[in-house]
Amino acid sequence: METADLLIHSARQLCLAPARGGPQRGSELGTLGIIEDGALAARDGRIVAAGPTAKLRSAFAAEREIDATGRVVIPGFVDPHTHLVWAGDRAAEFELRIAGASYMEIMAAGGGIVSTVRQTRQATAQELVAQSRPRLDRMLAHGTTTVEVKSGYGLDTPTELKLMAAISALDQSHPADLIPTFLGAHAVPTEFKDHADDYVDLLINEMLPEVKAQIPNLKFKLWPNRPLVFCDVFCEEGAFSLEQTRRILEKAKSLGFQLKLHVDEFKPLGGSRLGVELGATSVDHFVTTPPEQVEQVAKSDVVAVSLPGTPFGLAHTSYSPAHLLLEHGGALALATDCNPGTCWCESMQFIIALACRSMRLTPAQALAAATLNAAYAAGCGDQVGSLESGKLADALILDVPDYRHLGYRFGTNLVHTVIKRGKVVAGGM
Ligand code: NIG
Ligand code: FE
Repeated sequence: METADLLIHSARQLCLAPARGGPQRGSELGTLGIIEDGALAARDGRIVAAGPTAKLRSAFAAEREIDATGRVVIPGFVDPHTHLVWAGDRAAEFELRIAGASYMEIMAAGGGIVSTVRQTRQATAQELVAQSRPRLDRMLAHGTTTVEVKSGYGLDTPTELKLMAAISALDQSHPADLIPTFLGAHAVPTEFKDHADDYVDLLINEMLPEVKAQIPNLKFKLWPNRPLVFCDVFCEEGAFSLEQTRRILEKAKSLGFQLKLHVDEFKPLGGSRLGVELGATSVDHFVTTPPEQVEQVAKSDVVAVSLPGTPFGLAHTSYSPAHLLLEHGGALALATDCNPGTCWCESMQFIIALACRSMRLTPAQALAAATLNAAYAAGCGDQVGSLESGKLADALILDVPDYRHLGYRFGTNLVHTVIKRGKVVAGGM
């Protein structure tokens, strides 16, 4: 008999969401590798076996057993695009938008991202962590065990460094794993309103080098030594042009950052093509992307991250061209985009339900896009996202008889138990 710390057994369905030497691409998306009456064994925080209950029960003597009879076990959700750390809220803006003002009009009038920037600059690092932690707690309770988190509500060097430090502090004090992204190019700050290129110069000559110098002090559980850090740019009319985006990302790449881009949320500027050219890990939003660029992304290693909560949050009706991407063999992931402006959504379950309806994904496709493919979009596909030996033992027990209840049902939390690194961290205690 082998020993294990945890054995989850008798699951009606155990969904592996297996990797395909990378994300599940094109027609492979939605491969769940379902084991009926399945079991999962974990030791030292990692998966040591997944298979039929009879087989694992005779092979493992576990310190703790969880009976998942009648329930479904899936990988923990990975949310690969969030702006989790901010101060305050923008409820008043939501009301203006509902009355007819557009997101970009509000932004041009000094609201939007820069209004959250004003509130975030005034907050201390401790206040930012204290305001963000309940959001992270709710994400975990809804099954998200790994979260990418962007800076970007500072837009000056000290505040952006403070945000990066807050992301690390949250990672160190919470069961969820966080992945840091520097998004100093989230908006042009008010003080640079009429000379945005000077802000781009500041990003290139001061902010990026200072964030790089800070990296050895940023601790993250996923990387015991040096963390993987992304640099992202909001490439959009009213934010950063294609040329400005290129300058920032080329500098970031030369400093060793991995790359992400906000592209084609409203107006397509060519950001998707640029992402492919620069070897970005992901291009995100991906709504108004022209068909030829959808094909370029599909044929590259870049993961397209769809954020359907954002058009929903803005009461828009256009969503990512997911099927065109899949027809060309592309890799699709899902994320919340959790932020105080367009989409304060903390639940990947809701995003899955929305993706099934707005983009006609099957529950299996949406599930794989929210776990395995999301992990690849966040640069940690080798560590999380599927129930495979060697990966972190991040799993959810869902209080449903069939995985398709994800997508089918919405508005309530279907998670019964959240397991992170082999430990029960939410529900089912
Ligand atoms: O991804 N597009 C830019 N950033 C966010 C919105 C942030 C905000 O409005 O505060 C997004 O939708
Ligand atoms: Fe975003």
